Amino acid sequence: MKRLLLTSALPYANGHIHIGHLVEYTQTDIFARYWRMAGRRCIYLCADDTHGTAIMIRARQEGRSEADVIADMSAAHQRDFAAFQIRFDHYGSTNSPANRALCEQIWASLRERGMVTTKDVTQLFDPKEGMFLADRFVKGTCPKCGAEDQYGDSCDRCGSTYAATDLVEPRSALTGARPEVRSAQHLMVAIEPERPFLSTWTQGEGRMPKEIANYLAGHFLSEPLRDWDVSRPAPYFGFEIPDAPGNYWYVWFDAPIGYMAASKEWCDREGEAFDDWWRSEETEIVHVIGKDIVYFHTLFWPAMLRAARFSLPSRVQVHGFLTVNGEKMSKSKGTFVLASTYLKHLDPAYLRYYYASKLSSKVDDIDLNLEELVNKVNAELVNKVVNLASRSSRFVAQTGLSAAYPDDGGLFAAAAAEADAIGAAYAAFDYARATRIIVSLADRANEYVDRMQPWALAKQPEKKAEVQAVCTVALNLFRQIVIYLAPVLPKLADDVARLLGCPMDRWELAKTPLVGTPVAAYEHLMKRVDPGAVEKMIAEGRPAEAAEAAGAAAATGAPVAAEAPAAAGGGAAAEDDGAALAKEPLAPECTIDDFTKVDLRVARIVAAEHVPEAKKLLKLTVSLGGEARRTVFAGIKAYYKPEDLMGRLVIVCANLAPRKMKFGLSEGMVLAAGDETVHLLAPDSGAKPGMRVH
Ligand code: MSP
Ligand code: ZN
Repeated sequence: MKRLLLTSALPYANGHIHIGHLVEYTQTDIFARYWRMAGRRCIYLCADDTHGTAIMIRARQEGRSEADVIADMSAAHQRDFAAFQIRFDHYGSTNSPANRALCEQIWASLRERGMVTTKDVTQLFDPKEGMFLADRFVKGTCPKCGAEDQYGDSCDRCGSTYAATDLVEPRSALTGARPEVRSAQHLMVAIEPERPFLSTWTQGEGRMPKEIANYLAGHFLSEPLRDWDVSRPAPYFGFEIPDAPGNYWYVWFDAPIGYMAASKEWCDREGEAFDDWWRSEETEIVHVIGKDIVYFHTLFWPAMLRAARFSLPSRVQVHGFLTVNGEKMSKSKGTFVLASTYLKHLDPAYLRYYYASKLSSKVDDIDLNLEELVNKVNAELVNKVVNLASRSSRFVAQTGLSAAYPDDGGLFAAAAAEADAIGAAYAAFDYARATRIIVSLADRANEYVDRMQPWALAKQPEKKAEVQAVCTVALNLFRQIVIYLAPVLPKLADDVARLLGCPMDRWELAKTPLVGTPVAAYEHLMKRVDPGAVEKMIAEGRPAEAAEAAGAAAATGAPVAAEAPAAAGGGAAAEDDGAALAKEPLAPECTIDDFTKVDLRVARIVAAEHVPEAKKLLKLTVSLGGEARRTVFAGIKAYYKPEDLMGRLVIVCANLAPRKMKFGLSEGMVLAAGDETVHLLAPDSGAKPGMRVH
């Protein structure tokens, strides 16, 4: 198998990562993980796209250097990606020495081949800010229909497109100044001579989705290609063109070269040869991008690579745009959700799974329907997949798995036979198909468990061997499914590797059952999606409600974060803290002696059941280590299902005076936090039942 060099588009450094971006980075990450599991050498590279007017203006407005702005944003982007388990081999920046050197090299090749020309370009210039204005920084009256307050490229009302210089009463969107018309010499790259080549290359088998290849053939390649304007006059944040002082490469010139710069930095770090990756028949280059940036990647970029004699991409994979509940992401509706906001409320695994289940190799837009996300994750991941383990692992925690794989009526073998089909679906970017097959395997495994009822067998002492056999089958089917899901849900795979004490990181492992090994105590693998958490996430993004929450917290003097820092894993909870404090003021001070009167212990839930007559209560049996068992009635029925609680570690107050309740004696209290919803407190991993909490 050829080596694989894989990239996602380089996110702009002028904004935070949002759930729309995550479609792409999740899509690419799954591809990388699948191929690594299948034993293929693969590097996944990305970088921040740092240059251009937007960053320059932002830096001016914030009174900081551009370097400062992009350093902060790069750190935030990388934190967000890491939290979503998007794992790059290297994450670079287009503002790097490696990128500058490669830009110069490719530029020299373009010059050598006579592809660079010049042209006088007339543009609007803001005399107050001292800079040329890109179209979206000019506003004025539409020359066609007279609509006011239109951008410099097209009119919202009548849809006509025009040059910014055609606007009636133009003004700078930055300063309000009346722009001057100025002309400057720009450097252009002629790609028309490459048209015959591009016509063939874009239509190559598997080069890009068919609809894209057809679109290019019909819209661009059927007539002469216009020269590409690749320079911008000073002031501009970017690299100055060495043989044209005072001119800078346009951001889209150096951005794709950033793919190579990231590779170069990775190669230097790993002691690899750059040409093995960019000038070798043995390497396939695959770019994953959104549909908005197609022509940069399928026309200009291949022309540049060819001029400088580098390898061309084998495939440009194009995805559509994300809509939320059927509409464009919208700030006012709260559906423009930042990655960091999502992380405060929901498990990243949910979104990875949901996107996987929606993504095919087609360019169609994908819709995130929030109700469907809740239902899908709960029905498929929690009820069908994770439940397999939670329903069977505790019965073999003592014995481990059977020494020989039991007769399962051919279930394992049938699922092993799907490994190739599922792998082929991942390799074809058809994750919707992969997850469909996997869910059907989970259905079959659940039918088996439902039929065999290990929990009923476990009550019959003479059926010990049978219990072990049934659970060995169930856990093997579960493990197989989790291996198949590992590209999508790497954390689940890691957790299961710990539960079953086995590796889960190679595709082939799904073909051989695991026998004779111990099974660790079951730890919670995945929580059900709480619809309330989804609502809170959306509410947080809605400007009006965000302001209200901030106001309420401010009234009690609680701290309010001005802008949510993009910390991983819900670290950015400052705003939530404020709101909670506002609702429930602190209790009076207590001394250390007061505190030590309360005997808090780690406990394991060994049984959980409904109390049919009670609206809010679940009956829990907890183990405090050894033989000690306590019955505790907890008011958590609305938030937890008994089967999800089985085996969980919690904190209990162990010396609470027993309380006689209508349904029996309650011998302690399980600790939880919360207001509208309830969150059970759990110790960090490694804690054992009976340990005292200090
Ligand atoms: N900086 C350029 C890419 C340069 S690549 C040499 C850029 N950056 S971006 O931050 O705007 O977008 C990064 C990627 O995310 C693009 O492929 C873009 O299509 C994708 N998406 C951004 N918003 C998106 C949605 N709402 N939905 C799906 N993908 C989206 O473009
Ligand atoms: Zn108009």
